Amino acid sequence: MASSSLQSPIAKKLEGKVAFITGGASGIGAATTRLFVQHGAKVTIADIQDNLGTSLVHEIGTEKAIFIHCNVAIESDVQNAVDATIEKFGKLDIMFSNAGVLGKPISSILEVDYDIIKTVFDVNIIGAFFCAKHAARVMIPFKKGSIIFTASVATVVSGLVPHAYAASKCAVLGLSKNIGVELGKYGIKVNCVSPYYVGTPLALNMLGIADREMADKWIAEAGNLKGALLNEEEVAKAVLYLVSDDSKYVSGMNLVLDGGFSTTNVALAYNKLFPSDHQ
Ligand SMILES: NC(=O)c1ccc[n+]([C@@H]2O[C@H](COP(=O)([O-])OP(=O)(O)OC[C@H]3O[C@@H](n4cnc5c(N)ncnc54)[C@H](O)[C@@H]3O)[C@@H](O)[C@H]2O)c1
Repeated sequence: MASSSLQSPIAKKLEGKVAFITGGASGIGAATTRLFVQHGAKVTIADIQDNLGTSLVHEIGTEKAIFIHCNVAIESDVQNAVDATIEKFGKLDIMFSNAGVLGKPISSILEVDYDIIKTVFDVNIIGAFFCAKHAARVMIPFKKGSIIFTASVATVVSGLVPHAYAASKCAVLGLSKNIGVELGKYGIKVNCVSPYYVGTPLALNMLGIADREMADKWIAEAGNLKGALLNEEEVAKAVLYLVSDDSKYVSGMNLVLDGGFSTTNVALAYNKLFPSDHQ
């Protein structure tokens, strides 16, 4: 008997659910798309990377996922993509507002200008507002749903990432908690997932490391919890928990996935990002 036939099939936690994932073509969003589909969900991948998004749909199967070009910073894009999801799959149960950009990886407030702030805020926070608004629009009449944002470990520890990015992620957490208060009466849960570094294109760009293996090594060394590495699949599992019935009464939460990093003394990491003039 083949060993695989001894394994019991996974209990599908999202059977019959429909999800909308921004930034779903790459990194954390792509891993979450795959996991959601494994668990029985139908998924709309909303992203600006058409080639990646389309090939992910082909990998998964066109009956289980669709790709829609959607720039989250443009409200009509989000509105149309949510409407197209309803048209294709009949409803929306889960909004995963995950698209994000790092912006210029500068480390001094003296170098920050309007364009740097605007580029980051347009996607990370204004995009999150539009996703929440259009998810709520279609969820409120059904009095149920789950909205989840990707924030960052920067919501609980400072000095790890550029200022505009950190500020945008703290704003995402504020938005999440505030709308969670409003939407509770409609049975809509609102949560955040806040990862430590994951070696995606966004993080490689920030760390200035081109090689994923090298980045993973650095991330593991800098991390607190040894013998484990945070990757896209681990983040996807946390997202699955927050949107499934495993967490029916969990709302207003910021689930920090950092192996305890934010409880440590981060002075060493600080010195790496903000080197003193003498280094
Ligand atoms: N990788 C990390 O270390 C890390 C840690 C904490 C939080 N995050 C957050 O995780 C989320 C996912 O990032 P990732 O690490 O998977 O990186 P990634 O670069 O692999 O994925 C980001 C995705 O967002 C998409 N995107 C960018 N701008 C967009 C826009 N205007 N409209 C629609 N889609 C857009 C990109 O095309 C890309 O597919 C981001 O919000 C990021 O800030 C990442």
